[in-house]
Amino acid sequence: MVAPVPPNPVSVRVRVPAKINLALKVGPPRDDGFHPLATVFQAVSLFDEVQAEWAEPDRFEVTVSGEGADTVPLDDQNLAIRAARLLADTYGQQDSLGVALSIKKSIPVAGGLAGGSSNGAAALVACAVLWDLDLPPAKLRELAAELGSDVPFAMLGGTAVGSGRGEELVPALARGSYHWVLAFGHHGLSTPAVYRRFDELQPSGTHPLEVPAGLMNALRSGDATQVGPELVNDLQPAALNLQPRLQQVLDAGMEYGALGAVVSGSGPTCAFLVASETAAVDLSVALSADGVCRAVRRVVGPVPGARLIT
Ligand code: C5P
Repeated sequence: MVAPVPPNPVSVRVRVPAKINLALKVGPPRDDGFHPLATVFQAVSLFDEVQAEWAEPDRFEVTVSGEGADTVPLDDQNLAIRAARLLADTYGQQDSLGVALSIKKSIPVAGGLAGGSSNGAAALVACAVLWDLDLPPAKLRELAAELGSDVPFAMLGGTAVGSGRGEELVPALARGSYHWVLAFGHHGLSTPAVYRRFDELQPSGTHPLEVPAGLMNALRSGDATQVGPELVNDLQPAALNLQPRLQQVLDAGMEYGALGAVVSGSGPTCAFLVASETAAVDLSVALSADGVCRAVRRVVGPVPGARLIT
């Protein structure tokens, strides 16, 4: 048997952002168990890095370092591994491809920031290049949607309106750059558990299921003071019900001068919009000193989705 020839390059690195939801409107569960959404995603400058290295055929492995690394599964539950396998099964010759992935995490695990989904998106992009598959972006997007509701947005980035279960995307008409302070929780929240609690608290979901016009107008203006009061998340009551202390975090951020506060996605990360970089520094210092959350990060958005780095 002829030994497989490693392609050139033998290793590829991809940087991928976290997302926050500026609006998240949720309908009642569909027959497949997923909830129909009307959401506005924004990619922010908190990045994970995924490296894909040539490995023997049919060998798929992953190592993880950084934020929350010890809680990330290393088996087939890992979204980066699932992404690599899905790509190899769909477009590779039978069992001819393998990869060793390493993930450097800065995005908290189970934080409502699409950390796992972003790793899946990065692995798709990295492996497509490593294996020289020369796929049109539309094919990668199809696989991304198969992997998870937030994976297509992690590939796209920017600011986008999402529908379906979150995987159908249209870039948003948004101006400007926004300064955010993210407050990380002490404990993660399971996305399915938050949706289950949402169903208990609000079984009929939101009507009508649409992104608020006020938010879209505010984003077109590019004025953070108009965007702040428009932030909205239907999952927030469910996240607060599961972690009541989050209310203190949201209140503290507003008291210390945020223009708006919202739990991101299924939480528990709280996102605070502020007017400037200086305001972001002030709010980060105040929240850290208050001790109301585990850690704070200053980020800006929008930023691009998963991209190769050299
Ligand atoms: O799509 P993803 O695998 O990220 O979803 C994780 C879980 O979140 C799903 O299994 C489901 O319980 C819940 N979910 C949902 N409706 C959505 C997105 C996610 O109920 N639109």
